This record gives sequence, structure tokens and C-alpha cells, in this order.
Amino acid sequence: MCTSAALQASLRAALTNDMVMTDSAEMLRFCRDWHGDVTSSAVAVLRPRSTEDVASAVRACRALGLSIVPQGGNTGLVLGSIPDRPESQVVLSLERMNAIRNIDADDFSAVVEAGCILSELKDRIAEKYMYFPLALGAQGSCHIGGNVSTNAGGINVLRYGMTRELVLGVEVVLPDGTIFNGLSTLRKDNRGIDLKQLFIGAEGTLGIITAVSIKLMPFPDQVATALLGLNSLDDAIKLYRRARRDCCDLMSAFEFMPPLAFVLAREAIPDLSMPIAGDYPAYVLMEISGSGLVDIADLMERFLGGVMEDGLVVDGVIAASQAQARNLWLFREGMNEGQAKRGPHMRTDISVPLYRLADFVRDAEQAVSEALPDCISVSYGHVGDGNVHLNVLPPSDSSPDEAAAKIYKAKTVVNQVLDGYNGSISAEHGIGRLKRADFEERLDPSRRAVLTALKQAIDPSMVMNPGCQLNFPGIS
Ligand code: FAD
Ligand code: LAC
Ligand code: ZN
Repeated sequence: MCTSAALQASLRAALTNDMVMTDSAEMLRFCRDWHGDVTSSAVAVLRPRSTEDVASAVRACRALGLSIVPQGGNTGLVLGSIPDRPESQVVLSLERMNAIRNIDADDFSAVVEAGCILSELKDRIAEKYMYFPLALGAQGSCHIGGNVSTNAGGINVLRYGMTRELVLGVEVVLPDGTIFNGLSTLRKDNRGIDLKQLFIGAEGTLGIITAVSIKLMPFPDQVATALLGLNSLDDAIKLYRRARRDCCDLMSAFEFMPPLAFVLAREAIPDLSMPIAGDYPAYVLMEISGSGLVDIADLMERFLGGVMEDGLVVDGVIAASQAQARNLWLFREGMNEGQAKRGPHMRTDISVPLYRLADFVRDAEQAVSEALPDCISVSYGHVGDGNVHLNVLPPSDSSPDEAAAKIYKAKTVVNQVLDGYNGSISAEHGIGRLKRADFEERLDPSRRAVLTALKQAIDPSMVMNPGCQLNFPGIS
């Protein structure tokens, strides 16, 4: 086994010097997760500028017996993008591969490099009066390559689908260093098995995505945003079903928040002004949007008039300007940072069939309060997709060991309830390293066999992101 210094020297000899970073202080930001819960290290961080650079890096790592942890914006929440075996792993960051190769407004498509930051990409596309609908709280940092690799969800899934539904093609450097060019922009192409699907949601275990062709939509120049106070999560789900019908599927977001959301968001962003006068057991942040000849403002007003008259919504505010709409969204986005500020906590990313969602949340929160009476549950998220982030916050004066024990207990309790609901432990964040054991415990043998056969066929040397998603044969 070579020492780190020898491996670093070999990488420098094989690759352009500018690509190889080995200074541990500089490498730190690539080796720590978004919440700062885990700090690791690596033999090196490689920062290629082109697809050919990525291919050279893969070949060099293979030759040296190093494995590769691909990294986009490092905003993933399941420890997929930071090393867990620092002595034998490099991080390969796509941050320098951020060119937009083409935007074709007439074709409603674009071809972009993997390292494009999502919000910057959306802005560049908006300049052409087009729209890329993927939207999530991390969009100022996450990369499109990371979004594709995690099949990210976010707030617009109910209308536009998960990332998978927005991808037309991918360019991938395979684990043997060859380049798979699947950057088609064809909408319809049934020439056999659709191989791009293998890399979407693979979390870097089958290759490195270097570029993506994506679908674009007309820019929604009319957006109506409303914050609504309701009596319960049950009512929120009834409201969602009604909104889909009444608003002709023009609804683009429907986020559920508990009252604690406002407290948490203001802990992160103290000068946020409270948007709604009363206190309600449940809140929904809803958005309807469209372009062209529809009248979105009128639709929102008529819809809310109807549901308030029927008592489904108790109170509500419609944003009167973009600034007010932004203020409403800051409550939803600030919740995550507010929880992070309270220290280590248990985060979930669960989906169950929509008709069972309210029962699941009730049962899981009840089980947590019985098992951990001093912890706080906070359930929120993209309920229209049957997706809830049911998080558990230990008391803020817990020692690190106490917090870790409570987090473990909370996860066990919530997963036990979830198993009775046939739900998913990962609706949108992926498996990474954090959820591998929970995933493996619940993995059907036939699915494990197919996943193992795929890995062995595409990455027989186990170069790509070992320890992420599954422990495959040959890796302890
Ligand atoms: P990274 O974190 O860098 O990597 C994620 C995984 O993909 C890793 O396994 C990594 O190895 C792999 N990977 C990255 N780039 C490549 C590549 N080019 N080729 C191959 N593999 C690669 N997620 C949601 O789905 N919905 C949300 O609403 C949401 N909200 C969030 C809000 C906040 C505040 C934060 C911090 C995160 C949120 N996330 C959400 C999670 C995260 O932002 C997404 O998973 C995002 O898609 C990750 O992109 P990234 O570029 O940061 O990827
Ligand atoms: C969100 C992330 C946590 O929805 O997925 O805020
Ligand atoms: Zn989410």
C-alpha cells in the first residue's frame, strides 16, 4: 500500500498539476457535509476542466488503485459525496465544468455541463425567456450533475416531475475511463433500453456524469403565491386534491408547514416579518403559475374564495409582489437552516401513498413522543407528492453522545412505523452512506441481485463511490 504522499505524487505526475489539490486546509470544504455533522479527508481532490480531463483522472485513479467519490455542490444530505475511506479515495469535483454548451429555445432544450450551479443555470435559461423547473432550497450551491445523480425532487415535482423526467440525455465517463455519449435531445427514442436511466439517481456509483441535456419549459411569467392557515394535515391533503382539479394542474408548488416552521425560520433569518396574523395548526404554501393567455391571479382568487367559503382554508394571504412571495418562501427555506442551527438532529425523507400520509405522520409523531418525550418532531414538505420530512430535534442542551443516541432511537422508531405503511425511506435525497444500512435491511433479494449484477458489469473494479448505496461483494 502506497503512502498518501506517494499517491499524491503519482497523481501529479499523471495529471496536469492544476487538477490535483492536496493541501488539507483547501480540501476541507470538499470533505465536510452540508450540516457539518461529518468531516473526512481524501488522498486528493481532483478538479477537471473537461470531459477528457475526467477520463484521464479515472484512468489514473484506476492505475493507482484509488476509488473516486464524485462531487457536485456537496449539498447532498446522505453523505454520498464525501469520502469514508480517506486513505484510498479521491474526491472528483465537477465545479470547474460549468459551461452551458447550448440553449435551444425553439427546441425547448439545453445541453449543459455537470458542474453548472442550478440557480445560475436557471438564470441563464430565463434570459432566453425559458424555464428549467427544478427548484430546491440548495439551488444556490447544488449542481445539475448532482441533481441528476440524486434524481432530486424539490418543490415543483407535483407539476413537472422529479429530475429524471427533465433529463433528455447524459454524457458519462465510465469506470474504465471511456466516454458514454448519450447527450441526445430527442424526446422520443425507443432504440432499445434507455441507458441514461442507469445513471440518474445512481449517486455516482456507475460513472461520472459530465454533461446533461435537459428539457425546458415556457417561462411562467404569471405566478400567484399564497400562504394558507388550516386546521390539520388532513385538510391540507383535501385541499391539495381539490386544487389539482380546480386549478387545471397549473399548481406548481404545495408545501406543508407546521407552526414551528415560523419559529425555526426566524432563528435562521431573524428579520423575517410574520406574514399571517393568526395561529393555525397547519399551513400550506401554495403556488399557481402559467404563461401566455391564462389569468393566474384570477384563478388563485377564485380558488381561495371557494375553499374559504367551504371552511377548508381558515385564513390566507396572497403575495402582492415578488418581494412578498420571496418572503413567504424564505419561511419554508429557512426551516432547514433553523434546524441545522439547533445542532445535530434526525432528518428523514419519507414517502407513503398520499391517502395514508396524515395517518403516518400522526402515528410516527406519537411513537416519537412516547419513546423520546424530551425531543421535538417537525413534519413538513412536499405533501402533494406523498413526501414528508419528519425530523426529530433533541433538546439543545444534549451532549453530542446523548444527541447521537436520541437520533438513532428516533430513526429506529420512525422507520418501524414506516415499515407498516409500505413507504420509502428515501423519497428524494438518495441513500448515500447515511441510509445504506437501512436500505440494505429492507432490500428485496431479487432487487439486490439485479443491482449487484449491474455494478459488476459496469464497474467490476469497484472504482466508483464504494460504500455509497450498497456494499457490493469485494468491498467490506
Ligand atoms: P452532491 O451533494 O455533491 O452529490 C450528491 C450525490 O451525487 C453523491 O453521491 C455524489 O457522489 C453524486 N454526484 C454528484 N455529482 C455527480 C456527477 N457529476 N456524476 C456522478 N455522481 C455525482 N434534495 C431534494 O431532492 N429535494 C429538496 O427539496 C432538497 N432540498 C434541499 C435543501 C437544502 C437546504 C439542502 C442542503 C439540500 C437539499 N436537498 C434536496 C438535497 C440536495 O440538495 C440534492 O440531493 C442535490 O441534488 C445534490 O446536488 P449536489 O450537486 O450538491 O450533489
Ligand atoms: C426540503 C429538503 C430537506 O424539502 O428536501 O427542504
Ligand atoms: Zn424535500
